[in-house]
Parts: sequence; structure tokens; C-alpha cells
Amino acid sequence: MIDKKTNNRRYSIAVVPGDGTGPEVIAEGLKVLKTASKIYGFKYDLIEYDLGGERYLRTGETLPDSVVRELKQTDAIYLGAIGHPEVKPGILERGILLKLRSLLDQYINLRPVKLYPGVETPLKDKGPDDIDFVVVRENTEGFYVGSGGFLRKGTSDEVAIQESINTRKGVERCLRYAFELCQKRNKEKKLTLCGKTNVLTYAFDLWDRTFREVSKEYPDIKTDYAHVDAISMWFIKNPDWFDVVVTDNMFGDIITDIGAIIQGGMGVAAGANINPEGVSMFEPIGGSAPKYKGKNVINPIAAISACQMMLENLGEIDSSKLIENAVIMVLTKNMKSLSAGQMGYGTSEIGDLVVKYMKEL
Ligand code: IPM
Ligand code: MN
Repeated sequence: MIDKKTNNRRYSIAVVPGDGTGPEVIAEGLKVLKTASKIYGFKYDLIEYDLGGERYLRTGETLPDSVVRELKQTDAIYLGAIGHPEVKPGILERGILLKLRSLLDQYINLRPVKLYPGVETPLKDKGPDDIDFVVVRENTEGFYVGSGGFLRKGTSDEVAIQESINTRKGVERCLRYAFELCQKRNKEKKLTLCGKTNVLTYAFDLWDRTFREVSKEYPDIKTDYAHVDAISMWFIKNPDWFDVVVTDNMFGDIITDIGAIIQGGMGVAAGANINPEGVSMFEPIGGSAPKYKGKNVINPIAAISACQMMLENLGEIDSSKLIENAVIMVLTKNMKSLSAGQMGYGTSEIGDLVVKYMKEL
């Protein structure tokens, strides 16, 4: 919270290191946070939560109500990774990550796709000038609501239904966020709606109609539309066409993995789960990578960039810019590769290098 009278900026930050390599990468992000706070004079309190696979295996708990109540009182949540090899897929994802997104009404999943200098992209003849866009993924609706069920389960006549829920309110607030962001970015001022209006004629009719309506309030923003299959191709062939892309939850999940790989992969891709009126959560997009756990080989850059996004969201713009520049220094001057074990440095050394450049810049 910012005390306007004294300008004492003090934030309460919930830290959820989570599973696998989550704690290792979060530790590096926290080093960077500490350095930023010293340089720019803000203060923070960390509250750690042991949510994740270990706690679930020990106690059977995923996300207790009391924790949700406490998280609602914080200024931001910094999350490592959720996922454990001994826990059946879906339990932790639905029970912790998706539940947090939905209970905290983090209706925007913001995923920048930015190729930094010094980072190799698998795209031939493409460089940092070509790959710099943002995907705004709706984060609380669509298939992720969990609406549906089975009929005659386990029989040869089984039916499984999974419905995509799209509300006017949910679609509109997501689109408005995307228009506003496009204005704020002030780059090409082009917003692309990604959908499937030719097949999903109810859901994307709502998206398309609302998009056209809302666009009238933003005459300075050029609007464009692409089907999800086509955009998957264009992200590879012409990433330079995009400025801001807005889409539903499921399509956003899929196309941001394409986004992540063209910006250098899970080692660098960060994302923010944003409730513009509430508590937001910041995470590296990659998973818990259990096979690398405790080996000090995993790339912490994505987690550091997630910390950078958190500071930007808290209004610490100078800190955010400094971290980004320090990350670019490490990527261009130090790191041999972004892959675990091939970086030329250990996880903690990368964090130390970011800190070193922050102090020098
Ligand atoms: C992501 C992840 C999650 C999602 C999974 C882990 C539930 O893939 O953040 O993109 O599908 O949203
Ligand atoms: Mn995903």
C-alpha cells in the first residue's frame, strides 16, 4: 500500500514457491526484488505459503479458504510453479492455480511475447524487432470454468460434455483491458481478436460483436481479426504483424505456448494473472520441471521477469525498467543458452549477475 502522505511505499507480497524448481527460481526473483527495493527505496513484507504438491501429499489440502482470505489482503502474489509427479494431473492445477485465478477474479492473463537481444529464436531470419507483442488471454471463463459432466460414465454409451462459458460481462471487461493496453503501449495501436467465428458461432459471435461495439470507443486503435488456427501460423511466419492480441482462455493457453517458444522458450516466458481492481499474481509460465529440482541448473530469467512485471503492476516503474535492462545484459553478455544445464552458469549465479548489473546500470 502507498501511504501518500509520507510516500512510504510498502507492499505486502505473498510468495508461493510451489513445487519442483519453483523455490529455486523464486529465490532468484527475491534477490532482484531486494536489490530494487534498496535502489528505489520501497519496502515490502513477504508472507510465504507452502501451497503445492508436497503439502497436498502431506495433508490432503490444496488451497484452504483461510489462505484465500489472507491472499485477498495482500498487494501481490509471486508464484513459482505448481505440479508434482506423484499427484494425478488436474488436482493441483485445478485445486490451486486455476482456483486462485478464479477466486481472486484475475480475469486477465497477460503474456508478453518479446524476443530480447541475445536470445535465440527458432524462427529463421527473425530478430528482436520482429517479435514484440502481448497476448491478453481471458483468464476466468471459457472451458476453464469446469462446466459439463458425464452421462453413463464408464459404459460404451458414455457421453462427456465440456462447455465453454462466455459472459457478456467477462468478454467485455477483457476486451476493454486489451484496448486500454494497446493505447498505453502506443506502438502500432493495433488490436487483433483471435477466435473461431466460422465454427464456434455462439461463443465467438459474442466476442466479435462486443469487440466491434467496444472498438467504437477507441477510434485510435486499429482492429483486426484472425482465426486461432491461422494465428498459430502467423505467429511463426509473421510475428511482426502483431501488437496486442486478445482471445479467450483456451485459445490463449495454446497460442501463448507458441509465443513462449518464439521468444526463446519457458526459460524466459513470464506471465501475469491480473485483477485490475484486486490482487494480481505473477508467475513464470514454465512448469515445475521436477527432474531439475535442487540441481541449480534451471533458468531463473522467467521468474525474474515475473518479478519485474509484479513491480510494474505495483507502480514501481523505474525498478521494472532497471530489472528488464539488467536481464538484457545477462542475456547478451553472459548466458550461453537458455536451456537448463547449458546456461554456462548455475541458477543462483544468473540471479547474482542480474543483481550485479542492476547495481552497475
Ligand atoms: C498455463 C498453464 C495452466 C493453464 C495449467 C497448468 C492449468 O498451462 O498457465 O498456461 O492451462 O492455464
Ligand atoms: Mn499453458
